[in-house]
This record gives sequence, structure tokens and C-alpha cells, in this order.
Amino acid sequence: MCGIVGYIGDKSAAPFLLDGLTKLEYRGYDSAGIAVYGDGNIFIEKAVGRLNALKEKLKGRMPEGVVGIGHTRWATHGRPSDRNAHPHTDCHGNFIVVHNGIIENYMALKEELLAKGHNFTSETDTEVAAHLMEDLYDGDFAGTVCKVLKRIEGSYSLVFMSKDHPEELICAKQDNPLVVGLGEGENFIASDIPAIINKTRSTYILNDGEVAIVKKDSITITDREGKPVNKKIFNVSWNAEAAEKGGYEHFMLKEIHEQPKAIRDTMRGFIKQIRPSKNNHAERIASDGSSIVFPELKWDPEFLRNIDKVYIVACGTAYHAGLVGKFYIEKLARMLVEVDLASEFRYRDPIIDNKTLTIFISQSGETSDTLAAMKESKRLGAKTLAITNVIGSSLAREADQVLYTIAGPEIAVASTKAYTTQLILMFMLALYMAQLRKTVNEDRTRELISLLKKIPAQISETLTDVDPIKTFARSYGFNEHVFYIGRSLDYCVALEGALKLKEISYIHAEAYAAGELKHGTLALIVEGVPVIALATQKSVYDKTISNIKEVKARDAVVIGIAAAGDTELEKYIDHVMYVPDTDELLIPLLTVVPLQLLAYYAAITRGCDVDKPRNLAKSVTVE
Ligand code: G6P
Repeated sequence: MCGIVGYIGDKSAAPFLLDGLTKLEYRGYDSAGIAVYGDGNIFIEKAVGRLNALKEKLKGRMPEGVVGIGHTRWATHGRPSDRNAHPHTDCHGNFIVVHNGIIENYMALKEELLAKGHNFTSETDTEVAAHLMEDLYDGDFAGTVCKVLKRIEGSYSLVFMSKDHPEELICAKQDNPLVVGLGEGENFIASDIPAIINKTRSTYILNDGEVAIVKKDSITITDREGKPVNKKIFNVSWNAEAAEKGGYEHFMLKEIHEQPKAIRDTMRGFIKQIRPSKNNHAERIASDGSSIVFPELKWDPEFLRNIDKVYIVACGTAYHAGLVGKFYIEKLARMLVEVDLASEFRYRDPIIDNKTLTIFISQSGETSDTLAAMKESKRLGAKTLAITNVIGSSLAREADQVLYTIAGPEIAVASTKAYTTQLILMFMLALYMAQLRKTVNEDRTRELISLLKKIPAQISETLTDVDPIKTFARSYGFNEHVFYIGRSLDYCVALEGALKLKEISYIHAEAYAAGELKHGTLALIVEGVPVIALATQKSVYDKTISNIKEVKARDAVVIGIAAAGDTELEKYIDHVMYVPDTDELLIPLLTVVPLQLLAYYAAITRGCDVDKPRNLAKSVTVE
């Protein structure tokens, strides 16, 4: 997500800050800013756009000073703008803060601080941290930071700077990375190692709940109560390139492993305890204290209740997320849904009126076909909803309403964490609509929300033992054809699994609805052909097993994916990979993970350029 840097020492801070931010630009690049203390004042400069815009602004006016903090932003709350760029300050510019993460209770805190007369200048969640410092300040800088942390709920890495305490920077971590680099007569702070690797390899990697008081010649680590923590120095052995990938060999693998966090962050905004208010149409839908809410959706619930048709329109992996979304909305909210490829939708004269909702899914928010399809849909009078990962993207600007996945920048061309966060958002949207339309009862809603909350931990579980997947990839990575089969939601995931394999390993992969095999594809199944069979959908389980027997009877090598506890599948096929069990609606979030890994390791086996596959681009901005 965002990148953070901090410097305190004898040298000029600004050059390090800008250099560090350059190394972290891959984490977020919609705006950037620095704050430097010098001569009793704090100089702040910010600029929307790439880091170069900030560098341009600073040309000929680099601030002098030996203490400073900097930030490169990937917007979550508040669109990219100079005002929303970090650092943020309190009313009097005494406390300066940079932040990576999401302060979930910022609205309540902001209301409280506004009532006390605080003056806010941005739309960000971060700014409350600076005003809270002002509100709670008692002369003890570190002590006040600890008090602020007790008021904040959510995830953060935070760095605070104070005009009254220029001899120290204070930083804190919860659910977002933060590292302190040890120098001689100088110390460094960064969200990620690449920012400091050319300065020092001696670091303290902060753990959740830790606070660091960083001075030029000392570093004290405490817990949030101010109690000292004994910390071991971690010596970084990675080279600069490996550090950028967080120690993973490729961005794709890093992003696969980021899925639990990306999903948690995406859910954060929508599962919460909230008082329904007139303004936001929030609806309480479960009685265990959790609710699905969509405060961002400013449509009258009456419109959502009365929709008679939904189109989901997208390209590539986002289209596959749309196929799953169709199941969610149809099963839960009982509305008719059509899923269209954006490049087809715009030319097929779709039947649309003012009771039609069109949903456009796009990681980048810049895909030319998806954008053109949205414009066509608006022209025909439909209401448009964008689901995108990039705040301020063209799709987000063009749509009537926007919901954001909070996956952070996705760099590998093959989409992974964007897909799973899109699924989560579609699921929550469907459940929200189901409540409005009263198509799911409260018990079922409660059950689904509680299962939903377990998904991030269950994905982490699927990521712990990848050795069997590596073995399959090595064994079958040189086959030229692979088939994926499944029914119902398993079929939707099979399509995504086959796409992953095609795009990065260049193996010809086809996904088929298992029941459709007998209408032609079975002719291609001969001895030794690998078939990946997904069998997690309980409602069609027996039928899937019959189809699996059909391919096995033709001597295919069948690798199955099943839910934990399944004892049937292994009787019929060559090998089974298990994912944790959950509701059949949610299991696509788990079954896709071994398929992503299988594609990854197959591509490695074949020596392919995983992050930059031939002929493909991350964002396709031409028709
Ligand atoms: C390209 C990418 C795919 C992506 C598709 C749609 O083809 O390589 O990974 O799924 O575009 O991109 P979007 O940004 O609209 O989700």
C-alpha cells in the first residue's frame, strides 16, 4: 500500500527521504509528500501524481534540516490530491504524521474532534491521528503517542514528528510493515527494507503492538504501554531487487501471499458495528454485532430493492470474478444477472432501462474496453457501479457509484490478490442486497458473515504447505495441454485457474463445465493428459464425481481439489489437494489459491518470466 520513510541524524534529511520514496514508489504512486524540521520550523511539501511531481516542486528549494518523514500514497480514504497527500498535521502544525493502513474508527474520532473545534483539511482517515496528538498532548511525546494508539482501531504503520521534540521520531506498527534501520549517528525508518538497504543492513523489524522512539544515536522499542521490549537486530542479507519483492522471488508470489491481508483490508470497511443512519443507508443485518454495511453506496435502498436486472461487465481475471459474482447475486439476492466481456457488451445492443444495474469490475480502473462499456451503459440509462482497486481511476471517476477493493498495488501482470478481493466485495454486495430484498434469513446471514471472517486465516492455511504443488508443477509443467473441470462455482474457478496457467507458463489450458465434457471435449482426453478436477461444490458433488470417472476411464492423470474432510475423491483419482472447508459459496476464495500456485510453479519449471509474460500488459488501455 503506501510507502513510509523517516530520517534523523546529522545529514540533510530530504535527499534520503526522496531516495527512499523512489525505492518505495511501487507501493503507491498517486501522491507523495515530505516534512523536514529545520530552524524551529517544519517545512512540508506535497504533490499529487508520481513522485517526480514532488521532486519538481522541490527543485531549487530543498528544505534544510536533519530530521524528516516522507510518504508515497496509495489512496484508500480520500481521492488522490495535494490535500489528501501525507504528511498530515494537527491544527497548529505541531504534530506531523505519515500513515500506512486504515483507521477504521476515524469517522467517530473525527466527529469527536470536530466537536472540540479541531479544523480538518483533508478527507483522510490519517489526519485524525495528528489531531488526537494535539488533543491528548501532555508534554510527553512518546506517552501521548501511546495514548493516541489506544484510541485508534484498525491497521497502521505510523511515524510521528513534533515541532517541540525535534530530537526524536516516534513510530508504531499494527498489521502493516515497519522497520527501523540502525546507522552511525543517524537512524532510519521505513515501511519496507528497499528504502534503507543502501544505508544500513542492521535493522529492527517491528512487531504488532510495538512503538519505537528513534533518536539520532539511540533507538528504544516499547510496547503500547511504554514498557521496554528487548529486540534483536535483524541483519538483512537480501539484495535490493529481492528486498523490493519482500524477499519473494517474484511479485506474483508476493501478491499471492498478500491475499489474507488484502482480503482483511477489503472487508474491514464493510463488516463493522455501525449505527444505521439516515445518511448512509447502513443496514444492520446480523444480530451477533457484525453487519455488512455499504456507507459508500449513496443510492436509495429503494432502487437496489427494485432492480430487475444486473449486468456484470469486465475483462480477463475481473470477468472471472464477475462470473462468481453472478452466482452470489442470483443465489443470495435472487436477481437476474448476466455477465459480459466488456469488449462484447458494448457492441451487442444490451437491453437496459432505469431498473438495470450495471457493475463494472476492473483492478486498474483503466481498461479501455471496460471504460467504453460503462459509457455505453450510461448512455442507455443504466445506473453504473464500479468495483476497482485504484482510487481516482478513470472508471471510478466515470461511475455513478464506486466500491473499492483494498488490495494495494498489484504489480505482476497475472492478477491474484485483485481477483480474491473482487470476490469478497461481490459476496458482501450480494449479501447486502439480499438483506434489502429480504431474500436471506437472519440465521443464514449470521452464518455466512462468521464464515466470511475466517477466510483470510483459511487462505493463510492453504499457503503453508506448497511442496505438493511444486511437485505437481515439476511433474506436469512440460505437458503442452492441461484441462480444468468443475461444476457450478468450481467451473468459474477452473476458468481462472486455466487463465493463470496460460498467461504465465504458456501451457495450453482449457476449463470446461464438467457436465459439458461429453459434448466434445472428451475426445481430447487421452492417456497421460493432466486434468485438474475441482470438486468442492456439495450441491453437485455426485455429478462431478461421475464426470471425473469419465476422464479417469480415458486414462487421464487427474489431480483433484477438494474440501478438507472429503474422503471420497481420493478413491478415484491420482492425487488430491485439500483446502479448508467452508460454505460452497465461499470456497472459490480458497480453491483458487492452489491453482495460482500451480500456475506459478509451472511457469518457474519452464523458465518463464513470471511477472512479465510475453505479449501481455498489466493494464490494457487500447481497444
Ligand atoms: C489485462 C491483465 C489481466 C487483467 C485484465 C483486466 O489483460 O493482464 O490480468 O485481468 O487486463 O484488467 P483490469 O485492470 O480491468 O482488471
